Amino acid sequence: MTHQERVFSGVQPTGNLHLGNYLGAITKFVALQESHECLYCVVDLHAITVWQDPKELAGNIREVTAAFIASGIDPKKQIIFNQSQVSGHAELAWVLNCVARMGWLNRMTQFKEKAGKHKENASVGLFTYPNLMAADILLYHATHVPVGEDQKQHLELARDIAQKFNVDFADTIKEAGFEEGIFFPQPEPLIQGPATRVMSLRDGSKKMSKSDPSEMSRITMTDDADTIAKKIRKAKTDPDALPSETDGLKDRPEANNLVGIYAALKGVSKEDVLKDHGGAQFSTFKPALAELAVEKVSPIADEMQKLLNDPAELDAILKDGANRAYTIADPIMKKTKEIVGFIG
Ligand code: TYM
Repeated sequence: MTHQERVFSGVQPTGNLHLGNYLGAITKFVALQESHECLYCVVDLHAITVWQDPKELAGNIREVTAAFIASGIDPKKQIIFNQSQVSGHAELAWVLNCVARMGWLNRMTQFKEKAGKHKENASVGLFTYPNLMAADILLYHATHVPVGEDQKQHLELARDIAQKFNVDFADTIKEAGFEEGIFFPQPEPLIQGPATRVMSLRDGSKKMSKSDPSEMSRITMTDDADTIAKKIRKAKTDPDALPSETDGLKDRPEANNLVGIYAALKGVSKEDVLKDHGGAQFSTFKPALAELAVEKVSPIADEMQKLLNDPAELDAILKDGANRAYTIADPIMKKTKEIVGFIG
């Protein structure tokens, strides 16, 4: 038995969906739907690893759903759903909790960043977060996972977990009909293009993030045209003109970031951007970037607003997606149980 190519990725419904999420992940989701079977998941189980106000969570789930659709993902052709509606995610995560090692999770930099100095006070879910992420992917035998750079380590862990499961259960995997001994294929991260790590507009050494207290640090997918233009106008820069080659962006994190954003929005390389804008001052490059960002992001914000005006329709799309996701996940979960030795 071999495994067909399948794409899976997820976005947390924690509010403030931003340009980093869009350029690092969602634009890739849109592109892959032309060539692959894709599942795009609103990962609400992941969201609650840190406190989420129950009165806001459902709205945030719908916002990510609307962002997927407004960006161009077709919910009829591909599967858009939320994680908590397919019970296999939590079930498989438990099995994988018993495969992954404490030492592996102790090395996860995102846990260290998120837990900060208050490790003892972090939820257990935040610690085992990467196992749930591995479960998301492996539950569908997904082979390709488009993500931003910050998820690379989690993806490597998912690969390690898949491999350890295959080795630990080699005998029963073969008995279950997988002659080559591969039940969980190793998922391949897709981390490509000029905007795999979009940085804060206020500090080129910090990632653009949903949780940055400064609104000015990020462009959100619901910002209106004036807000987008203002945030770009005020973005931190250095006093020099843009270089004409990418080498000249080294040690200039803010310039590198704005050029990367421009390139990703336009769908070209940073080299191409510098061919056109090398030598320009920020006083001319920033308005060009603002215009491009407004041109690309504003129509999505408008479409999101329209979709969010009909929450029942979004909920129906999620329900339909969950039903379709379940039909893929269920046989894989059943096989997993058989392989582990449970009685079906
Ligand atoms: P999340 O919700 O933090 O982010 C969603 C996607 O956006 C990417 N991203 C960025 N890309 C470029 N620059 C940035 N500044 C930036 N910030 C975020 C993330 O890399 C991600 O691709 N753990 C995941 C969600 C998840 C998942 C999965 C992903 C759960 N299960 C299974 C893939 C497969 C997360 O927290 O993403």
